[in-house]
Amino acid sequence: MINIKDEWKDIKAFTPVSLGELSIDTRFVRSATELFRALPDGHICDFEFDVYRKLAPHPFGLIITAHTCVSPEGRSNMGQNAVWDDEFNPDHRKIAEIVHSGPAKTIMQIGHGGMKADGSNGGRPVYTPDNMTAEQIKEVEKAFVRAAVRAKACGYDGVELHCAHMYLLSQFFYPQYNHRTDNYGGSGVNRIRITAEILSGIKAECGDDFPVLVKLNCDNNEDNESYFRDVMDAVSVLLSCGCDALETSGYYSSPTGIPKKPYFCETASAIAENTDMPVIQVGGIRTTADIDAILKGKVRAVSMSRPLTSQPDFIERIYSGEKARCVSCGRCAGLKGICVLDRKD
Ligand SMILES: Cc1cc2nc3c(=O)[nH]c(=O)nc-3n(C[C@H](O)[C@H](O)[C@H](O)COP(=O)(O)O)c2cc1C
Repeated sequence: MINIKDEWKDIKAFTPVSLGELSIDTRFVRSATELFRALPDGHICDFEFDVYRKLAPHPFGLIITAHTCVSPEGRSNMGQNAVWDDEFNPDHRKIAEIVHSGPAKTIMQIGHGGMKADGSNGGRPVYTPDNMTAEQIKEVEKAFVRAAVRAKACGYDGVELHCAHMYLLSQFFYPQYNHRTDNYGGSGVNRIRITAEILSGIKAECGDDFPVLVKLNCDNNEDNESYFRDVMDAVSVLLSCGCDALETSGYYSSPTGIPKKPYFCETASAIAENTDMPVIQVGGIRTTADIDAILKGKVRAVSMSRPLTSQPDFIERIYSGEKARCVSCGRCAGLKGICVLDRKD
């Protein structure tokens, strides 16, 4: 049950939408936000449960969790949450229950650090697209599928594959990091293959109706035009494997300097205009005018991270006429999920 003012009920952002198999009650999404605070063994800390308690009552359609690691060799930092074993299920069940105490559905973001796991994976092999054997690729794919099976068992409404920000799946998709000459390298279709096989594996194990989203880098900071052609090919492949929605990110999750406006408008709308893939746009969205403008086009939902770290009740505040407190400085990352304005020391 969403608790909002009557005058907001006709605003598009507050209306339900279907993202493939996932139906949500509003178009506000909390984008995956890692807090870097897991216990050394990968268990989730109390601070993080409290973050979900603060978010849960607000009118989100969907809350996506932190990037959660599917296998020990892929742990991208010492504070990353884990889902590589059933021992973590009670933690994840607790998050799903907390979020479901409010109106939102919840999805676990799952990923593998690839080369970003160097120094934080306990001395295990560091995987890169170029050094992995075909067997190791299959093992990683299975780890993703097992993680999704756990997420489903814990009560999550779906999973999101992290194929952005230089983690393993996005390393595969970047031509500058993937020099393979087999079926996993070369064309865009080949470079997205590992993600597509994971997606198909999850649908086979969890059911076609279990939602799987993909967060994808839609630019590569080099040859964006040819990269974007590969993105469109990848989107077709993902759609044919049953991907329920695409969250469009970029090489940098936030550009250097402080962005003054949403910064993935062009790529998100180009994808939404040219495919049937439901698109969720993220990045720099801070005002009701931004949200209205984005949802006027074919993009179906808007996703936000930093403003919600600063103000979990951000949605109600901006629709009541307040200005966002978050100025996108990004210091909440270094402060492990605390807005610099709330810093106590
Ligand atoms: C502290 C912090 C942690 C983040 N953790 C993740 C993550 O786990 N997975 C992910 O895909 N993106 C992560 N991001 C990126 C956000 O999801 C989002 O794409 C980015 O911050 C742009 O949105 P915003 O301008 O609303 O913050 C993180 C961002 C911040 C600031």
